[in-house]
Amino acid sequence: MSYLEINDLEKHFVKKTGGMLTSRLETVKAVDGVNLRIEKGEILGLVGESGCGKSTLSRTLMQLIPPTSGSIVLNGENYSTLSPAEVRKRRLDFQMVFQDPYASLNPRMTVFSTLAEAVKQRHKGMKGDALEAKVIELMSTVGLDAAQMKRYPHEFSGGQRQRIAIARALAPEPKLIIADEPVSALDVSIQSQILNLLKDLQRDLGLTLIFISHDLGVVHYIADRIAVMYRGKIVETGTAEEVFNSPQDDYTKRLLASIPKLNVS
Ligand SMILES: Nc1ncnc2c1ncn2[C@@H]1O[C@H](COP(=O)(O)OP(=O)(O)O)[C@@H](O)[C@H]1O
Ligand SMILES: [Mg+2]
Repeated sequence: MSYLEINDLEKHFVKKTGGMLTSRLETVKAVDGVNLRIEKGEILGLVGESGCGKSTLSRTLMQLIPPTSGSIVLNGENYSTLSPAEVRKRRLDFQMVFQDPYASLNPRMTVFSTLAEAVKQRHKGMKGDALEAKVIELMSTVGLDAAQMKRYPHEFSGGQRQRIAIARALAPEPKLIIADEPVSALDVSIQSQILNLLKDLQRDLGLTLIFISHDLGVVHYIADRIAVMYRGKIVETGTAEEVFNSPQDDYTKRLLASIPKLNVS
């Protein structure tokens, strides 16, 4: 059994279209029968063009929206059969890193407050020196200077803010982190620093990560395995080398052909 098993997962949205007299209900199959396996300590790259269902898949995995059908089994536990109250308790097991760290951090909270709050989600009674030591440890884990912990998000650069967001995701000791386009808003020179940080965290902490991107080059660099998503379905999975060197699916081939400049050696 794999660490994370996603079985026949579907998330359909029903949308009203047309005018008052011609209105009808249309079903958008944002996630349309996804099967995926992820091992502990693995970075899975999820790639596909805008609108193919990547964010909907991640929101469903995060238990933020209920699936239409199918199951999510993490570490042997079937989350799809849990009651809403039990799901809420386990929500800490899943943490996210978003594209825009500035929008996802509270501008009125210092880094210390942000990280302390995230630590206390898991360790409710932690305070004083123990809490401060934990925050300092988190900051050093993501390569930030702990002397800056009383500063606010706007006092940091974009790359540093994404480090804070990563530290916040690590703070409640999740089982799985999903990073949805985490470097897409960063300068190219900063992107590789964040990618290398995530790789270091995988090596040092055994991080299990789903890394979502529309950018095949970025995914190739960071991922152990790649899943290609197209119109709500996973059309191809394989190691980064397999997918790049011998793509099987026509959509993957088209995706690869659209980035001729990429050096994949
Ligand atoms: N809450 C929603 N209601 C209706 N349609 C939605 C909703 N969320 C996403 N969709 C639709 O589902 C499809 C997949 O969207 P999304 O998961 O955001 O794709 P991606 O992250 O790959 O760009 C799109 O057609 C989008 O319009
Ligand atoms: Mg998205």
